[in-house]
Amino acid sequence: MPSLDKFIIRGGNRLSGSVTISGAKNASLALMPATLLAGGSCRLENTPRLRDISTMSTLLETMGVVIRHPGTTLELDTANITSFEAPYQMVKKMRASFYVLGPLLGRYGQARVSYPGGCAWGPRPVDLHLKALEALGAEIEIEAGYVVARAPRLEGCDFTFDVSSVGATGNTLMAAVLAKGTTVLRNAAVEPEITQLAHFLVRMGARIEGIGTHVLTIEGVDDLHPADDTNIPDRIEAGTFLAAAAIAGGSVTLERVDPDHLSTVLARFRDAGCSVDTETDRIHIHSDGCLQPVSVTTDIYPGFPTDMQAQWMAMMTVAPGRSIVTDTVYHDRFNHVPELQRLGARIEVNGNSAVIHGSDRLTGATVMSTDLRASASLIIAGLIADGTTEVLRVYHIDRGYEAIELKLRNLGADIQRVDSEDY
Ligand code: EPZ
Repeated sequence: MPSLDKFIIRGGNRLSGSVTISGAKNASLALMPATLLAGGSCRLENTPRLRDISTMSTLLETMGVVIRHPGTTLELDTANITSFEAPYQMVKKMRASFYVLGPLLGRYGQARVSYPGGCAWGPRPVDLHLKALEALGAEIEIEAGYVVARAPRLEGCDFTFDVSSVGATGNTLMAAVLAKGTTVLRNAAVEPEITQLAHFLVRMGARIEGIGTHVLTIEGVDDLHPADDTNIPDRIEAGTFLAAAAIAGGSVTLERVDPDHLSTVLARFRDAGCSVDTETDRIHIHSDGCLQPVSVTTDIYPGFPTDMQAQWMAMMTVAPGRSIVTDTVYHDRFNHVPELQRLGARIEVNGNSAVIHGSDRLTGATVMSTDLRASASLIIAGLIADGTTEVLRVYHIDRGYEAIELKLRNLGADIQRVDSEDY
C-alpha cells in the first residue's frame, strides 16, 4: 500500500531561487519498454526517481529484465526475457504498462497484456492501439480482461490514426520497427516524448523518417541492438513550477529544461502578467502575484497540454475576473474542481469547460488528491491560500513529481510532508 502521507502547506510565501527539473516521466515510460526490442544492456540517463518509473521497472522485472537505477541512470538488461505478460495487478496501477504490447509483438510475436481500466477521471480506451497493431497483421483477442496478441511476423502498412494518440503512436512505432517492409503512420502524435522515443529507436538501429512530424515512415529491420540515451526534461514538471511561481509571486529560475517544449505555455504565462525569459536550457519567471484572467483550451502538442489544465485552473482561481478552461483531449478531467472549491474557488463546470470566477483570496482547508495533475493543482492553490492547506493522499503526486516538497521548500514555500492517518 503506498504511503498515506499528506502535505501541510502554509500559504503566503513568495518563491525565489532555482530548481532543477527532472527527466520526463512520460518519455521514460516509453523508453523503458522499448529496450525489450533488443537483447542486452541499455543505459537511460536522466531517468527520474518516481513511483511510475518503479512500477514500470517492477513490470519489466517480472518479464525477466534486470534493472538497476543508480541515481538518475537507469540500467536495463533485456538479455533473458522469460514472460510476455503484463498482469492485471500491474496494468491497473498504471495505464502506461500497456506500452509493453508493441515491443513484445514486434520482437517476440506474442503478448498477453491486461486491458487497462479507466483512470481517476474516466474511461481511457485503447482502441487506436489495437486497430493499428491489427493493421500491422497482429491477431488480437480479448480474453477475460486481457489483450491476447499474436503476430509471427508483422507486415508494414499505411495506417492513419483517427485521433492523435501519444500512447497508440508509441506502441505502434515500437511494433513497426521490426515489421517486414515499410510502415507509414499518419496523424501520428508529435509530443516531445514520442520524438524522444523515435530517436532512441534509431539509436537502437531502427530506420524512421519524419521524426517530429505527423507522418512517420518506418523501414522494418530484422533486429535491433541495445543503445544508451539521455532523457529529455519533463515539460509538465517545468510548467507546474512555473504555475507555482506565478501564483505565489517571486522570481524563479528553472534549470535543465527545454523552453521549446513549452512555447504555448510560456505565451499564456506572459498573457497572465508574468515576465518570462528563456535561455537554451533555462526559463526565468517573475511574477508579482497579481494574475490576469486568461482562458486556455487544451490541444495536442504544441498546443496547451491537457497535463497543465489543472495547474492553470488553480492559478485562475485567484486571477480577478472570469476565465474559461476547456479540455479538448479529456472531456472529464475535472476531479480537481470540487477540491479547489473547498478552498473557496468559484468554478462552474459545463461539459468539458470550466468557468472560473477568480477572486483575490483562497482559504486553506483539507483537500484530497485524486490524480497526479489534480494533486499538483491543489499544492499550487495551497501556496497562496490563507492559513493552512492539508493535501491528502500525496502518493498520487509521487507518481509524477520527484520530491516536489523539497524542491518547493528550497524555493521558499512553507510545505511539509507528514505521515497521515486520514485517508
Ligand atoms: C499520454 O497518455 C500521457 N501519459 C498522459 O499523461 C497525457 O495526458 C496524454 O498522453 C495526452 O497528452 C503517458 O505518456 C504515460 P492519448 P495517453 O492516447 O497516451 C483518446 C500524466 O499526467 N484515445 O494521447 O494514454 C484518449 O481517450 C498523464 O502524465 C482513444 O480514444 O493519451 C484521449 O481522449 C495523464 N483511443 C486522447 O485519445 C485510444 O486507443 C488522447 O489520449 C487511445 C487514446
